[in-house]
Amino acid sequence: MKENMIRSAWKQGWVLVCAVVLMVSACGEDGSKEEAGELLPPTVDTPTDVAGDQFVLTWSKVTGATKFQIEVAIDEDFSQLVEPYDPWRLNATRFTVTELDYGTTYYVRMRTERDDELSAYSNVVVATTLDEPGPEPTTALKEVATTFAVGMAVQTSRLTGEHHEVLTREFDQITAEWEMKMSVMYPTEGVYDFTRSDQIVEYGEANDIAIHGHALIWHSSTPTWVEDFAGTNEEFEAMVKEYITTVVTRYKGRVRSWDVVNEAFQDGSGQLRNTVFRQKMGDDYIEKCYQWTRDADPDVLIFYNDYNMTTDAAKLKASLDMADDFVARDVPIDGIGFQMHIAYNGPDRATIEGAAKKVTDRDLLLHFSELDIRANPNDNMSSLTEQRAIDQQAKYKEVVEIYNAIPETSKFALTVWGMIDSETWLTDFHGYVDWPLMYNDDFSVKKAHTGFLQGLE
Ligand code: XIL
Repeated sequence: MKENMIRSAWKQGWVLVCAVVLMVSACGEDGSKEEAGELLPPTVDTPTDVAGDQFVLTWSKVTGATKFQIEVAIDEDFSQLVEPYDPWRLNATRFTVTELDYGTTYYVRMRTERDDELSAYSNVVVATTLDEPGPEPTTALKEVATTFAVGMAVQTSRLTGEHHEVLTREFDQITAEWEMKMSVMYPTEGVYDFTRSDQIVEYGEANDIAIHGHALIWHSSTPTWVEDFAGTNEEFEAMVKEYITTVVTRYKGRVRSWDVVNEAFQDGSGQLRNTVFRQKMGDDYIEKCYQWTRDADPDVLIFYNDYNMTTDAAKLKASLDMADDFVARDVPIDGIGFQMHIAYNGPDRATIEGAAKKVTDRDLLLHFSELDIRANPNDNMSSLTEQRAIDQQAKYKEVVEIYNAIPETSKFALTVWGMIDSETWLTDFHGYVDWPLMYNDDFSVKKAHTGFLQGLE
């Protein structure tokens, strides 16, 4: 683009050369700097927020300016101006050029006005609008991901109709988003409620979809009666053993894997979170829970699952130190789950790869267990822009590429935490809108889904 500009500038003389090459300083037609006091054109920034039909211009203030003049053309000679920018005049330093055509290069020329006077010189920028979005490919994820399971978080109220169609077309593993947690399965002392968990497990079995169990012990889903447990520590431990044994036995051979303990470490320090389980069972409560799980189902895969695992070095280290210690002492553990609640703009590839490698360098499985990629991490968008959808697509592609590139022996599953955007847990969690998932609310695939497919190419 810059090359084109310079070529045309040679044709047109110095005005454009100076506009493009110098940008910050206005030039005379002979190439000399403006004399002080003459009216300068604004310095125009590279257009931002470029979409299929619009882009945003910003420019510098100019001393003495009463207005700025914007001309938009589809040719570099400015002979074919685009209405209503022929010219458009305003007193501001920001303007959105709208109602443009897809996939078109636009030339923008700006001058300064001072009352009736117009700056003799101008500055020019160029922007090309995005191509008209074509239909996204609908290739089924599970057909392309042949070396690991593609997982989806589910709820019992989301297993029929279009949810069911997408689930059976695309996914070969499911995780209960909340219905296989302790507060749901064991709401009252001595009284289990497996209504919802049974429904999810039966759904998986009926549709040939594997079930990842999540999560037996999690501080955020501990029933009140457990938090307020009245008995002795010995009674508490016996109760937890009985709970784990009951649940794991019930789903023995039906649930492929369990997040037995979820989020045990504190942010930043890697210290054990001081949950009721730690308080009443001691620092070794995790290994007790893992052992009871193994005793109840010798074949089930046992995971430790946590968030911020790629960015919180202390938490990752604590998790790996624990796993190393367990392996050394024959305490069962098969893998580590990185939740992967991330954003389109971070963490970056090297950070994710580096953390993943620490797991895959060991004899451990790696699960990307709750992937969602925030498009609106700063809460400054009211709809998903095309540009942001493209950025999100790139991040989905990157994450899948990273996962797909780990050694086969470490591969387990990549699970996405929700289906359609309006159902994401993040809306409640953060209190504002986002579009972190792979499907639009009409269940059509987003660019994010295309990114997932591209990551598998
Ligand atoms: C969330 C679910 O998405 C919500 O539906 C539920 O109300 C609360 O839990 N880390 C985890 C998940 O391990 O279990 C959490 O899921 C999200 C954060």
